[in-house]
Amino acid sequence: MPIILSIIHQFNCSTINTNNKNNHVANTTIITIINLSNNNNNNTIYTNTTTTVPNNKGPLIIGGTEAQAGDNPHQCSLRWDGQHKCGASIISANWLLTAAHCIPGDHDILSVRCATLFYGEPGLDFKVSQVIEHDQFDGFDYDIALVKVSDDIPLGTPDLDKIGLPDQDMDPDPGTVLTVTGWGYRDYKVEVLSDRLMTVDVPVVDRQVCADDLLDIHEVTDRMLCAGYDEGGRDACQGDSGGPIKHDGLLVGVVSWGKDCGLPHYPGVYARVGYFRDWIRDKSGV
Ligand code: ARG
Repeated sequence: MPIILSIIHQFNCSTINTNNKNNHVANTTIITIINLSNNNNNNTIYTNTTTTVPNNKGPLIIGGTEAQAGDNPHQCSLRWDGQHKCGASIISANWLLTAAHCIPGDHDILSVRCATLFYGEPGLDFKVSQVIEHDQFDGFDYDIALVKVSDDIPLGTPDLDKIGLPDQDMDPDPGTVLTVTGWGYRDYKVEVLSDRLMTVDVPVVDRQVCADDLLDIHEVTDRMLCAGYDEGGRDACQGDSGGPIKHDGLLVGVVSWGKDCGLPHYPGVYARVGYFRDWIRDKSGV
């Protein structure tokens, strides 16, 4: 009868971070089990097994949690050829707001999927009949677009509804806590979408502070608002673009750009809906 002694050695290696995507072990716990067994000839045999499990507080959106049913009935997935590309928000029975950089050259490949927490599962899908991109969009600035769907969206249910828009010029004060949602990457380097909608709260960062932080990347303009923690760790990421950042039930921003995701001293940048309120009314009547 062999004696088996298991030593379970558990250590956190959230600081181990390789650039090799297939070998990525950040935010995981490595458990090494050392088995000491004794065979009939009195020799001690060591075997060791290592397993890797994700930390329960690992990165989600970046640093977020699972969104709950009914909390984001305005959230849709904007799709290119049926594949999730970006987020979008319902603002009326026919119109959604998204980012201009989410719009492909060929509008015919666009569709939207709403009323689901899982972008890959059936929800309510709509064809896109019209797209209006801001004509001053330059790759960063004026990153806003309107998408019209061909059938009326049946609004007013817990899973499917519009979100209100702030007044023209609304610009939330630094420190105001906003909520961003999306199916984007949970880790910039891992490049995998989240099956389930995720949510994270981030405070507004003073525009001048943000401009200084992002100086080496791009100018931060009055059309943008910034949100994040100075220590990083909570943010939107690739695949969240075009989706909502909200406050008090109003759509205050649209996920636009950032330096990687969740890095310290690099807030996420959003198109500021308050800047575009009149433009939205002019173009869509909403
Ligand atoms: N541009 C990205 C997208 O297409 C979103 C980037 C947001 N980045 C950030 N760090 N907040 O999905």
